[in-house]
Amino acid sequence: MHKVAVFVGSLRADSINLKFARALEKLAAGKLEFVYPDLGSLPLYNDDLWASPPASVLRLKDDIAAADAVLFVTPEYNRTIPSVLSNAIFWGSRPWGKNSWADKPGSVVGTSPGGIGTAVAQSHLRSVVTNLEVILMGQPEVYFQTKPGLIDDDFTVTDPDTRAFLEGYISRLTNWIQRHTQDAVSSIA
Ligand code: FNR
Repeated sequence: MHKVAVFVGSLRADSINLKFARALEKLAAGKLEFVYPDLGSLPLYNDDLWASPPASVLRLKDDIAAADAVLFVTPEYNRTIPSVLSNAIFWGSRPWGKNSWADKPGSVVGTSPGGIGTAVAQSHLRSVVTNLEVILMGQPEVYFQTKPGLIDDDFTVTDPDTRAFLEGYISRLTNWIQRHTQDAVSSIA
């Protein structure tokens, strides 16, 4: 089963993005294993810290290395991505020449109460992670508008049409990871 490192760009205990990630995890049961690297203990990015890298930074880079794929679940803050996510992406991309994101199959999703469901933030994020050589899945796009009761306390998506759409997304993501994992690449080479 492929391991997916899930980067939720919110530290709130009641984060709707964390809840959405957990709902996706439930739909992916038996297909994908989700792990949630700790973004909250990372210091603000500072190049000087590479002289003696904090344990949280080394752990983040290990977590990315150990994953078959990366999934970004982003809130939208002021029409862009939150600093929690940017900060983690900065750390993962450095030091120069040791970009942990490169060649990882990945996907970007997100949720907000707003009607466009993080579309603008996702657009910014796609541009960033593509530059970092994440092998990004283009479709389906998931702009998830959070509504009361749509995901229940057990992380079940209650609306059948929405659930079917998200099951389709997980199916496509699983295939995408399968096609682009290192094992698949080396078996072709
Ligand atoms: C927001 N929110 C928001 N929502 C949105 O759809 N577009 C936006 O540009 C913004 N901007 C924004 C800025 C800041 C600083 C905050 C704190 C919030 C609302 C946001 O979608 C809402 O707070 C979500 O609940 C945040 O996601 P989590 O933390 O619940 O995962």
